[in-house]
Amino acid sequence: MPLIVWTNPWTIGVKLLDNDHKMLVLLINQLHDELVTGGSKSSLKSSFDALVKFACVHHRNEDRLLAETAYPGAAAHHQEHDRLLGHLIELQARFANNTQLADELEIVHQLREWLFKHTQSSDREFAAHLKSHGANAILAAHKFSPISEVHAHEDDARIVQEVC
Ligand SMILES: [Fe+2]
Ligand SMILES: [Fe+2]
Repeated sequence: MPLIVWTNPWTIGVKLLDNDHKMLVLLINQLHDELVTGGSKSSLKSSFDALVKFACVHHRNEDRLLAETAYPGAAAHHQEHDRLLGHLIELQARFANNTQLADELEIVHQLREWLFKHTQSSDREFAAHLKSHGANAILAAHKFSPISEVHAHEDDARIVQEVC
């Protein structure tokens, strides 16, 4: 049984974002599966690395959309992404330094909350904005300029820059 089953409550109604979120769910499930089936520490590390890498890509892509669609809450949402990535990197370090299955499982369970809270609050609000501004036309155009300067908390931004 996967740790996270993708059901309707997870869907926010913008395909591009839902697809990315599904990929994050898949990577968390993969990590969980490997853990409960006794995967080696090096393969667990690779799976966690893949999750961090994809989370970076997803959040940076979403940051571009926030900026390019003139979302009024863009700066706050961007800062939240940096906080989330900072938290993910912290969990990655804790996971790497832990060999107790119960602790490792607890960290992986935190990943579910890590993803669910943000997608169901901030991402859902952003999806509503996208839908009310013709999300399909915006996303189909795929004409996003490079990420603009967005205000972020300096420490979070520095940590994220070093990893992403
Ligand atoms: Fe987001
Ligand atoms: Fe997202």
